[in-house]
Amino acid sequence: MKILLTGGAGFIGSHTLIELSNAGHEAVVVDNLYNSSPIALKRVEKIIGKAVPFYRADVRDRKALEAVFAEHKFDACIHFAGLKAVGESVEKPLEYYENNMNGTFVLLDVMRKNGCKNIIFSSSATVYGDPAIIPITEECPKGRCTNPYGQTKSMLEEVMMDVQRADKEWNVVLLRYFNPIGAHPSGTIGENPNGIPNNLMPYITQTAIGKRKELGVFGNDYDTHDGTGVRDYIHVVDLAKAHVAALQAIERKQGIAIYNIGTGHGYSVLDVVNAFIKANGVNVPYSIKPRRAGDIATCYCDPSKARRELGWEALYGIEDMCRDSWNWQRNNPNGFEE
Ligand code: NAD
Ligand code: UFG
Repeated sequence: MKILLTGGAGFIGSHTLIELSNAGHEAVVVDNLYNSSPIALKRVEKIIGKAVPFYRADVRDRKALEAVFAEHKFDACIHFAGLKAVGESVEKPLEYYENNMNGTFVLLDVMRKNGCKNIIFSSSATVYGDPAIIPITEECPKGRCTNPYGQTKSMLEEVMMDVQRADKEWNVVLLRYFNPIGAHPSGTIGENPNGIPNNLMPYITQTAIGKRKELGVFGNDYDTHDGTGVRDYIHVVDLAKAHVAALQAIERKQGIAIYNIGTGHGYSVLDVVNAFIKANGVNVPYSIKPRRAGDIATCYCDPSKARRELGWEALYGIEDMCRDSWNWQRNNPNGFEE
């Protein structure tokens, strides 16, 4: 299939390019490089041994998007493009709503006009809010999102389902990602956060390499086995492969399909720190800090629907994730700066 990847230069998009190529698909990237580097695409090209057509464009730019569609006949789009920093979205709600919502509106309209009505959307476990059931199944009701970023994911899910209900030619696959970490085993691409990392794994790797003094563990009084927050960490290569598997739902013309994409295992912050130390033999100094506003105690999924319907399941374990995150950080202490 020929696939448009919006946001394809980013963390998850760059890894997905490799898995699409491995599976024999052709991909074209549209990205405004707001949160990514063209060097990531160069490195993907080196891994897959072929060029990746790339357009530096904003998905809100209708003319630019139309020009891309005029050059390519796409079978489907994987829509990664969006702003994703939870804390920043609380500070800049308008920017988040504007980018994520408008970008998707323009994209859907241009897709429709060009007869491409198949979309895989990067949604998030955040749509479950403080989950009503653990492990979380796709039947679990959506919850109240505590931040504008999460709201955009939840609302965009509804928008896409409405679009499909109005026009049955559409196939909409909503992938609710849990916590992606790790990096390609080559150590040449990975997550490259700007400034001080918000997420756990980049903070751990930057502490291990000496860029940060110590990791702050946000709360040890949650109702979990050691009091720290429990999440479903998933290797980004497994997550990338889930997109290839999700194309089956499009080929089968499933209409609307929703999948949790996680491992089904919950690890606490201290479990991850200990797995990191064990996998890599490096120290991660940490201290206990107060809880972070908006955090929940436990979030992990039941991924059996994806296994049943798509034949996909995560293969990497937590130590693989820690090893590959460290391999990326150690080989690229300054991210994509060359
Ligand atoms: P990322 O920031 O690395 O990638 C997103 C890409 O989109 C970036 O390359 C950025 O430059 C681009 N982009 C943003 N706005 C754009 C616009 N208007 N036009 C064109 N390009 C634009 O993030 P990621 O971690 O790879 O996440 C990919 C998607 O998955 C996002 O939608 C994110 O919200 C979602 N998601 C991520 C996580 C996570 O923890 N990483 C979890 C759940 C869902
Ligand atoms: N944590 C720390 N110290 C840190 C960073 C995080 O203790 O420096 C803890 C958090 O309190 C939480 C766990 O580590 O218990 C994971 O936190 P992350 O920030 O890495 O991830 P979240 O589960 O909070 O959120 C992430 C993404 C969201 C996404 C969600 C579900 O940031 O965008 O996963 O996919 F919605």
